[in-house]
Amino acid sequence: MREVNIALVGLGTVGSGVYKTLSMQKERVEHKEGLTLNLKKVLALEYAIEIDESLKAKDFYTDIAADESIDIVIELIGGISPAKEFILAALKKGKTVVTANKELMAQYWPELNSAAKKSGAGLYFEASVGGGIPILRTIWESLQANEITSVMGIINGTTNYILTKMAEENQSYEAVLKEAQRLGMAEANPKSDVEGYDAMYKLSILSSMAFHARVPIEYIYREGITNITQEDIAYGKELGYTLKLLAISKRRGNTVEARVHPTMIPNAHPLASVRGSFNAIYLHGNVVDDIMLYGRGAGDMPTASAVVSDVIYAANQSSHKHTTFYNEKDASSEMSFENNWESAFFLRLLVADSPGVLAKISNILGKFEVSVASVIQKGQSEDSVPLIFITHKANELSVKSAINEISDIDEVISVANIIRVEN
Ligand code: HSE
Repeated sequence: MREVNIALVGLGTVGSGVYKTLSMQKERVEHKEGLTLNLKKVLALEYAIEIDESLKAKDFYTDIAADESIDIVIELIGGISPAKEFILAALKKGKTVVTANKELMAQYWPELNSAAKKSGAGLYFEASVGGGIPILRTIWESLQANEITSVMGIINGTTNYILTKMAEENQSYEAVLKEAQRLGMAEANPKSDVEGYDAMYKLSILSSMAFHARVPIEYIYREGITNITQEDIAYGKELGYTLKLLAISKRRGNTVEARVHPTMIPNAHPLASVRGSFNAIYLHGNVVDDIMLYGRGAGDMPTASAVVSDVIYAANQSSHKHTTFYNEKDASSEMSFENNWESAFFLRLLVADSPGVLAKISNILGKFEVSVASVIQKGQSEDSVPLIFITHKANELSVKSAINEISDIDEVISVANIIRVEN
């Protein structure tokens, strides 16, 4: 029987799931893979679950990096430091690393990848995107025959949970966020999730894998869900759309556009049915056409599924494959990154209810070549009435210029929200 000796660094939610999975699946892996998974060391600041005292390590460098018998290090402490130093030390010693650290992978991938190449160690990070959804290996191992031209994903469970609750229970963003925090679905400091940083890191990794071209976070447009109101969701619904925080990237030739923002999608789109904390990634390959992978994007056991599967996969390799990119050295010298993409738009305005306002607004939209697909006006009032437009596909900068001019019209009280629409 082959054996692999493992060190686990970090014993929080995901670490505990990995600890449980390694013992729960031990016999099955021995039987199926002919491989014994030996957990030899665990290093953590706090132990979220009780573990055998003999496994506890005190120092990463002396107890793990210097231990010649350790083959694979699982890094689950998250954040940049000391995770980065630990991973580099392990890779330099020729130890394969399995990590769920999206922030680190998104920001330091070239450095980590080149350390892994140099020593021949493996670097695996399936759990960094989409939790338990096997999306990265699917791209890497099962879609090689394709040129992937677009990726669209719901890759943040917290925001999908919040938007689903707002839509289905007609509650405010603030109320749902509070409830999500009480249930442990959102962090006490929710910024990384609700402002789109988490999705941006994941999109950087996902698009880089899909396009074989590094898509650094500096080139990803990011907008979170903090300005979304019940009104936006309700009017979207009325027009046949569901509101999601989407991570979108597209490649045309050597040009890539990548963006994370609230997006209206038609109710019939497969991503519209992804509810609650679930994630899904929808890809287009030139040979396979459309594919969607769906599952749990977070949580102890789903994420442990990706981590432990990486460990088994790594242990089964005689030599490790490393990622290669068209724009290996300087991301922007080989590729160009678009910031003026085309999209349809949902515009919600509050206007004075007086004759001729609609015509003034339509004129300005027309002047900037923004064509209107549908419009609704609600009610009659002495103060203000909402006016909602859905445009046809238009150029992002043209829409912004039109909106600037529209907000100067006397009867326009406010531009309440502008949300992109993918059809
Ligand atoms: N906070 C993430 C989410 C899970 O809400 O999807 C970890 O990546």
